[in-house]
This record gives sequence, C-alpha cells and structure tokens, in this order.
Amino acid sequence: MTHLLHIDSSARGEGSASRRLSAEYVQAWKTHNPHGTVTYRDLAVDTPNFVTPGWITGVFGPADAANADTQAALEGSERLIREIEAADVLVLGVPMYNFGVPATFKAWIDQVVMAGRTFAFGENGPEGLLKGKKAIVLRASGSDFDNPAFAPMDFHAPYIRGVLSWIGITDVEIIAVNGFTPEQLDAAVREAGNAIAASVDAAPLAA
Ligand SMILES: Cc1cc2nc3c(=O)[nH]c(=O)nc-3n(C[C@H](O)[C@H](O)[C@H](O)COP(=O)(O)O)c2cc1C
Repeated sequence: MTHLLHIDSSARGEGSASRRLSAEYVQAWKTHNPHGTVTYRDLAVDTPNFVTPGWITGVFGPADAANADTQAALEGSERLIREIEAADVLVLGVPMYNFGVPATFKAWIDQVVMAGRTFAFGENGPEGLLKGKKAIVLRASGSDFDNPAFAPMDFHAPYIRGVLSWIGITDVEIIAVNGFTPEQLDAAVREAGNAIAASVDAAPLAA
C-alpha cells in the first residue's frame, strides 16, 4: 500500500500558503490513491530537538560513552527516520525564511541525516540509503526567485534538493508560489492548483 508522509513547517497557521498547498496536494493524492495512507507531522507544533552532545556521541561514538542521554537522543532521530522509511511519497510544506528553510525544518533535517543510518560512505563514495521515494516540496516566499535579481539568493531549493539527495531521495519536485500580500498569495496558490493536479496524476497509483 502506498504511504505518504505529510510535513508542514510554516510558523503560521491560517494564512500560510505552504500549508494550504501541502493540504491541497495531500487531498488530491488521497482522491487519486483511495487506499493510500498518510502520516502527518507539524514541525511548528512538534519541533524536533536540536543536535546535542549526546546525539553526536550516539552517532559518532565512542561506543563506550553511550548512556541514557545518547540513547534518548538517538531514539528521537530514529522515530523521524522511520517515518521517512515508511513513506513512498513525502509532501513537504516549507516556506522560505531568510533565503533558506525555517529553523524547525532544519532541525528535522539535522535529526534525519545520520551517518551510517541514512547515508554511508561506500566504495564509490557517499551513498544515500533512503532510496525509491519521491519528495514534493510546496514552497512559499515573498519574492519571486525565478527573477534573476533574486535567484542568486535562493538557498532554499538547492539546499533541499542537495540534502534530500544526500540521504537518497533524488526525485524532488518543487512547486513554488510567491507574493507579498494575502491577495497575491491567494492568486498564486490558486494558480499552483494545475501543477499540483499534474504532479498527483503523474504519481503511481497505490496498490
Ligand atoms: C521570518 C521570515 C523570514 C522570511 N524571509 C524571506 C526571504 O528571505 N525571502 C522571501 O522572499 N520571503 C521571505 N519571507 C516571506 C515568506 O516566505 C512568505 O510570507 C511565505 O508566504 C511564508 O510561508 P507561509 O505562507 O507558508 O507561512 C519571510 C517570512 C518570515 C516570517
């Protein structure tokens, strides 16, 4: 059965364009995949821990320094990693904050990018271990980063593509809207409906 992991990270509730887009995507996906299942995680409400000394020791050793703290830190990561492992499709609502991703989303990334667990260094160099998944990123920003005047400051899309591919998720689609006023964002969200429908239609049907 196909499983979808839906994650939001906007600090806003009502009025968040990335939340509206991700909800619309998941709704369309459910219609397309009536037997598909969904796990939801709101990083603004349920914010992952930051990396701690215990986490670093737990991941990088030494093994004889492991204790209850390192164990607890790794269990937090393990929960989030298993959510990704269980998913065929990741739908990520990620606004742009200061040209990058929200700190809550970065905290999630820091918990799930783990040496020896989600990536490894093999004979052919680095290898992502979470293979065979697709990620769709629903992004909202104020400025239009297709505009060459702003494009060099877009550290959001390249970062997400880079870090997801590092852990093996190389199939990443970004659907972006932009606008400074609620009216502009509304119009952009409405326009993105076509891209969402096309993306969902292109996805394989759930078994
Ligand atoms: C803390 C913060 C930082 C932001 N930084 C940027 C930025 O660097 N570039 C940009 O174009 N918009 C920026 N914005 C605007 C947001 O990307 C925009 O309001 C977007 O709609 C937020 O997503 P949301 O509607 O899902 O909450 C920022 C907004 C906030 C609250």
